Amino acid sequence: MTFPAHRPRRLRRTEALRGLVRETRISTAGLVYPMFACPGSKVRTEVSSMPGIFQQSPDQIVEECREVAGLGIPAVILFGLPEKKDETGSEAASPKGAVQLSIQAIRKAKVDLLVLTDVCLCEYTSHGHCGVIKDGEVLNDPSLALLAEAALSHARAGADIVAPSDMMDGRVAAIRRKLDENKFQDIAILSYAAKYCSAFYGPFREAAQSAPQFGDRRSYQMDPANAREALREVALDLEEGADIIMVKPALPYLDVIARVRDRFDVPVAAYNVSAEFSMVKAAAQKGWIDEQRIVLEIITSIQRAGASVILTYHAKDVARWLK
Ligand code: PBG
Repeated sequence: MTFPAHRPRRLRRTEALRGLVRETRISTAGLVYPMFACPGSKVRTEVSSMPGIFQQSPDQIVEECREVAGLGIPAVILFGLPEKKDETGSEAASPKGAVQLSIQAIRKAKVDLLVLTDVCLCEYTSHGHCGVIKDGEVLNDPSLALLAEAALSHARAGADIVAPSDMMDGRVAAIRRKLDENKFQDIAILSYAAKYCSAFYGPFREAAQSAPQFGDRRSYQMDPANAREALREVALDLEEGADIIMVKPALPYLDVIARVRDRFDVPVAAYNVSAEFSMVKAAAQKGWIDEQRIVLEIITSIQRAGASVILTYHAKDVARWLK
């Protein structure tokens, strides 16, 4: 028997009924707010393609972290800009780097936040690639030790979770080993396991000044056409010791998030990346969309697909709207 016995509209009649049977309930509990740390003090420069997002010196990072914690957001992820870039991105592992100093400052100020750090070389290398270069090639194995050193410097500064985003093979194992050797066995690894070579990172590259100076990232980041390969990347990172795995970008890859969620019983994160954010902001500024409804629908979709941890530049707005 179907209609008239079955009427799905019965449960959509009022907000109380809809709320009672809602399958996906978003909250601030899974949100991570990305921030860009730069050298100096009292620096706060807005990223032109990302309204409301700033490059900030450690003292300013702390101020915004207080606001973030006050909004009930549990975590931030820090990206760093160096004083000087060089061939091997040596400032990535400097104890005096903007990320390392920011973590220390957050800890000193006793701001109650989980601090994640992005582990990569592209912001620190003169060529803008995520590994070291020889004869125009991005070398895999020689990059691993540098990434592990960067991760160790973040742990020493007080990071809770390190998040390698470079897509070199074997980096999770190299970082896990390095952390364990230095008694940081309790520092977790969130790996950008399925990171696609995406045009959706455009505005981020302005924010992090990390655009490759030649070529592109196709030899290490994943081909957007591949979903099964993402499952293999995730399996490898889990074998190497990843605690949380991430799919990135989020919206154009909801199918990948769903497949990863289905296959693996570990926390799944998704990165709602810079262009996903900038497109919404631009359309909202033009008055073409209802920003609040669009953003809450986006966050709901990413969670519905299977991500319980969501990195998003919208985090502060979402927290305000959910209050
Ligand atoms: C560094 C890194 C990138 C992003 C996060 N980590 C850029 C890239 O790979 O080019 C993108 C984040 C965003 O677009 O918001 N490897």
